[in-house]
Amino acid sequence: MKSLSLKLDSSSKAKYIVIADAIRQAIKQGQVAPAEALPSARKLAEQLNTNRHTIMAAFAELVAEGWVEAKQRSGYIVVASLPIQSSQNINKVETKQAQFKWQFVRKGIIQNPIKATKFRYNFAGGQPDLRLFPFDEFRGYFSQSCQRPQFDDLSYGDSKGLPDLINQVSTYLRRMRSITEKEIMICNGSQEALYMVTQLLLQSGDKVAVEQLGYPPAWAAFRSSGAELIPINQDEKGIIPKHLEYELKLNTIKLLYLTPLHQYPTTVTLDVERRMKIYQLAVKYHVAIVEDDYDHEFHYKCQPIAPMAADDPLGLVIYISTFSKLMFGSARIGYVAANQNLIQALAEYKTLMNHKNNVLIQQAVSRWMKEGGFECHLRRMTRTYQKRRDITVNILKHYQSLGLPIKFKNPDGGMAIWVDMGKSIVGLKEKLFKKQVYLQTQLEFDLNHNNRKQEVSSFNFIRIGFASMEESELKQGIKIIFDTLYGDYLVESIQSVFNTEQ
Ligand SMILES: Cc1ncc(COP(=O)(O)O)c(C=O)c1O
Repeated sequence: MKSLSLKLDSSSKAKYIVIADAIRQAIKQGQVAPAEALPSARKLAEQLNTNRHTIMAAFAELVAEGWVEAKQRSGYIVVASLPIQSSQNINKVETKQAQFKWQFVRKGIIQNPIKATKFRYNFAGGQPDLRLFPFDEFRGYFSQSCQRPQFDDLSYGDSKGLPDLINQVSTYLRRMRSITEKEIMICNGSQEALYMVTQLLLQSGDKVAVEQLGYPPAWAAFRSSGAELIPINQDEKGIIPKHLEYELKLNTIKLLYLTPLHQYPTTVTLDVERRMKIYQLAVKYHVAIVEDDYDHEFHYKCQPIAPMAADDPLGLVIYISTFSKLMFGSARIGYVAANQNLIQALAEYKTLMNHKNNVLIQQAVSRWMKEGGFECHLRRMTRTYQKRRDITVNILKHYQSLGLPIKFKNPDGGMAIWVDMGKSIVGLKEKLFKKQVYLQTQLEFDLNHNNRKQEVSSFNFIRIGFASMEESELKQGIKIIFDTLYGDYLVESIQSVFNTEQ
């Protein structure tokens, strides 16, 4: 009997298990063929410098798993019916070229390998300041769920979400967003809602109208069904109803995706007149509207204008929002408000995908809302972000006063400012990476660019997310942005101010 070449791993498992693992591996590699005898326990004990009992225990393990059988007078042999290839064949199969080739029929969203949160100055538009989240308070609500587990909630079922949380969200939406007529469903963030809506309503060849400047993860969800995106032009007041009407006459459009409160990425609020016109068009052309109200919490000018979903007699608006901005993206709590039929279909689809959401976090958020902590945090963050918006506006005005041709509108709400930098921003993002600054620019939000219809030199806008940094960080970070784009000009203008002062 030839000896086996055994590789014992140095894990903390019992020795007989480590030996059984090594023998199993040797069998898989074809070191011993089916029906061939293994070396005797005495021989293996000598080879591995251990006692025979340990080897016998390893054999017993392999017998129990079905790899090996005991045969009178031959000792232990490899089970004859195992479909093991010879070692020569295995070597061929193990070469790189022979790796299995997947034939993908769908694709997801490529994860950006550059993580915005790793940068010293993170201007990503929707990034909240996690340093200000009340983790201590929240921990209390979380631990209550483990101290007094609700066994009924912890089982399957309730794919619409935890009933307590649905109640809280529905009260919140009634008070804050005047939504009263819709049913609510909790989901793993807005993205899951967008994906499920896509799966239920769209198929290959369908058309979805979207704002020309928009939110690429939503586009990716719609495209995952094979749907085609029709970009609708915008001006300084948001999406242009006339252009929407033109496209509706030209195409059979099934869905319209909108961000009416703070248009993503320009932050413009769509006025009542345009909303009404768009709703009438949706009725006339039989189009459902997905209203993404992603950061409605943060509105500074007045009470935010009520969403389109609040005045939807025909029930064609699918309202989607998220706690990712008030809490953090990885909380994965989002919600849909829509008519009963759609919510039922979504709940059934959710059951197909993954049954339900994480119950512990839903319980914690629900208690946090019930006890008032949620609204307290909301008020505090709204005040903080309003201050940060004002600081950012003043910093930008300072650069305007130096003669830079930049233009921007002070946004009524949201977590970002859309700035026309007065010159091409192509390449700016990449230059800033080296200076510890993460910034998003028009290139990533423009569907025409995405469709390669537009000259890149005409891109002048950046999106300055101001929420996640305090004053000194905002000043330093924005200075780096301007130094990088306008370095020479700034040196000259500061020099001339200096000269006139002398
Ligand atoms: C337009 C828009 N919709 C939705 C979301 C939130 O998505 P989720 O709830 O999946 O975190 C964001 C976050 O950046 C967003 O900007």
